Amino acid sequence: MSQLKDKTAIVTGGARGIGRAIVEQFADEGAAIAVFDVAFPDDFEGFANGIREKGGKLEAYTVDITSSEAVEEACSTVAADFGSIDILVNNAGITRDKLLLRMGDDDWDKVMEVNLKGSFLMTRTVAKTMMRQRKGKIVNISSVVGVMGNAGQSNYSASKAGLIGFTKSTAKELASRNINVNAIAPGYVETEMTHVLSEEQLKAFLNIIPLKRGCSPKEIADTVTFLASEKSDYITGQVINVDGGMIM
Ligand SMILES: NC(=O)c1ccc[n+]([C@@H]2O[C@H](COP(=O)([O-])OP(=O)(O)OC[C@H]3O[C@@H](n4cnc5c(N)ncnc54)[C@H](O)[C@@H]3O)[C@@H](O)[C@H]2O)c1
Repeated sequence: MSQLKDKTAIVTGGARGIGRAIVEQFADEGAAIAVFDVAFPDDFEGFANGIREKGGKLEAYTVDITSSEAVEEACSTVAADFGSIDILVNNAGITRDKLLLRMGDDDWDKVMEVNLKGSFLMTRTVAKTMMRQRKGKIVNISSVVGVMGNAGQSNYSASKAGLIGFTKSTAKELASRNINVNAIAPGYVETEMTHVLSEEQLKAFLNIIPLKRGCSPKEIADTVTFLASEKSDYITGQVINVDGGMIM
């Protein structure tokens, strides 16, 4: 398989979960990958070496995407080391779930900073390189709750709804430079982020999923790969729900 042959991709939050599944699939499709993350689990080096042993190129960078200096420095390094930046996946995200009246300023600010501002900083920086190249693919990982809302997640759902507006605006701005910007709205995906959900919350999710199961990280990566590949060249400014039918 070589849908992303000779492409260079940056995946934020690629150390684990959905991001890691995207990295794995991009590598299988022939892309060279730069992973930006704040924390790399112990098994990441083994995962990265597995990709390198198969002939893949993968470099990991410790980057906090909420810092514009860190983002600019790391993106310059990637552009110099890899020669181009063809794909950006804004995947890093956090939750700080609380009911509205219990939500502190810091819970609100931190979620906005990572999920929304981080994606803005990454996009603004990488767009400069993509505009010079006159091509690029940007995929933003939003969420179904950015579309339908969720009690206890006013900060998170606002950040993910914001990311959808950001996707559409940047798609319009960058289209003339042959840069596609799309978003994916995953439903319930089994990762460490959702391990914190209670039995009751899980049951509530499964009740509203027509396909009656959660999504695997690989199933999100499948759609990201499509949006990063030439097969989606005529698609921009869209939000694709990968949610087992939760939103129709
Ligand atoms: N798991 C789900 O059900 C689900 C559903 C919808 C959307 N999403 C979204 O998918 C994305 C990935 O989620 P996941 O479930 O794999 O989560 P996860 O918590 O397993 O992974 C998130 C990764 O982002 C990294 N990260 C956090 N803050 C960062 C920062 N400031 N700079 C760089 N990296 C940072 C973390 O270290 C981690 O490796 C997130 O944006 C999340 O909101 C997840």
